[in-house]
Amino acid sequence: LNRVKSLPQGFIWGGATAAYQVEGSTKVAGKGKTMWDDYLKAQGRFSPDPASDFYNRYPEDLALSKKYGLNSIRVSIAWTRIFPNGTEQEPNQEGVAYYHRLFKECLDQGIEPYVSLHHFDSPQTLFEDGDWLNRKNSDYFVAYAEFCFKEFTEVKNWFTINELISLAYSQYIQGNFPPNHHFDVTSGIQAQHNELVAHARVVNLYKKLGLPGRIGLIHVIQPIYPIDDAPENIHAAKLQDAFMNKFLLDGTFLGYYSDDTMESINEILRLNDAHLEIEDGDLDILAEAAPQNDFFGMNYYQNQFIKAYKGESTNSFNGTGDKGTSSFKFKGVGEAVKKEGVPTTDWDWNIYPEGLYDSLKRVAADYPNCKTIYITENGLGLKEDQPAENEILADDKRIDYIDQHIEAILRARDEGVDVQGYFVWSLQDQFSWANGYNKRYGLFFIDFATQKRYIKKSALWFKELADTMK
Ligand code: BG6
Repeated sequence: LNRVKSLPQGFIWGGATAAYQVEGSTKVAGKGKTMWDDYLKAQGRFSPDPASDFYNRYPEDLALSKKYGLNSIRVSIAWTRIFPNGTEQEPNQEGVAYYHRLFKECLDQGIEPYVSLHHFDSPQTLFEDGDWLNRKNSDYFVAYAEFCFKEFTEVKNWFTINELISLAYSQYIQGNFPPNHHFDVTSGIQAQHNELVAHARVVNLYKKLGLPGRIGLIHVIQPIYPIDDAPENIHAAKLQDAFMNKFLLDGTFLGYYSDDTMESINEILRLNDAHLEIEDGDLDILAEAAPQNDFFGMNYYQNQFIKAYKGESTNSFNGTGDKGTSSFKFKGVGEAVKKEGVPTTDWDWNIYPEGLYDSLKRVAADYPNCKTIYITENGLGLKEDQPAENEILADDKRIDYIDQHIEAILRARDEGVDVQGYFVWSLQDQFSWANGYNKRYGLFFIDFATQKRYIKKSALWFKELADTMK
């Protein structure tokens, strides 16, 4: 713990949340449906209610944040609480009032809110009209963003969109988010581009409005390594990296797609009979925004080891991602394989802190426009049993995971990478999109039936960390 003494006093320690995963109360106070409501109902596996009942219990969760050493929180605004269909001219005042209450409570308790405008929860109406694939969607998103900027002046730190790749990939390639399309490569790349343009439009607007806060976006980085030195595997890793990371990083921080990136993207498109449309003016918008991002939110969970794969695409993902149940092969690109000696989580995710260090170094080296970095998500999902009354849940594995990743951050910082904060995913146990309620990430355990909060050992560990810095 002593190592964190090298961090600046203002370093951000935060807990991360997302509206749909914590709030619950999806049918109250004029809220509209997101793309998940009918989809989850039809699946019949999980309900987004009550989630962590954050809609009502935010004062308690903020008090816990404070008590256990956190000074910040990541929340997202549910677009559908403000504009229930995404398209209205007038906002839903009850939704607006809710977020004013939430932000006031944050500030009253001394917890700085970092706010995303979009965290996987597109309004159902816009989703039906094509979501990010429909360029009109961006017009509505920009209007919603402008409303929020002018209304919520108490917020000083904004993120436009959370994990652009996860949306594009999970919606159209892997198919575990609605509309469940598999290997629709045209949509998978087009969604990435359209989201980037939407992000850039919002950044440009924010800067034109001359608002006193800061703005950026969040990418999850999954560094890609070839499984060995075979040339075809090295090439496969390059292609996969272009699709998963580099296209978005270039678009965000260079303001254009480099020739090297486009060479890989075009190879994937050719092999999959897919195409990308870049409209006139798009690149000007990206170029204007690139130097204007005030910060970068990097989410990091795991890396991938890639082996070349030439056959037809297949995906045996069974919806839960449990160990040993999913295999994923992307035509002409590759398949993610396990590497001996690299430990994995209960959900078969690699535990590879080196990947975080490498990603920080890479972004700092390749993208001078990327100034300050916050780790906006990092954490470990576990199956955990309810603790007994007054028992502290011993989540040593989570502490180890977080500790190793903070170590990677410190190492990158020592070498000049400007990381200014760390948000653990997640603050409290939450609803997980594809896994429901049994994949727990929180520093605080929630008995979802009673909504009682229990302390985990990782919360105590965070407290010690914060105290060490004093
Ligand atoms: C990130 C998302 O992709 O990973 C979160 O921003 C999500 O919303 C988190 O919950 C963990 O993913 P999962 O599938 O384990 O819940």
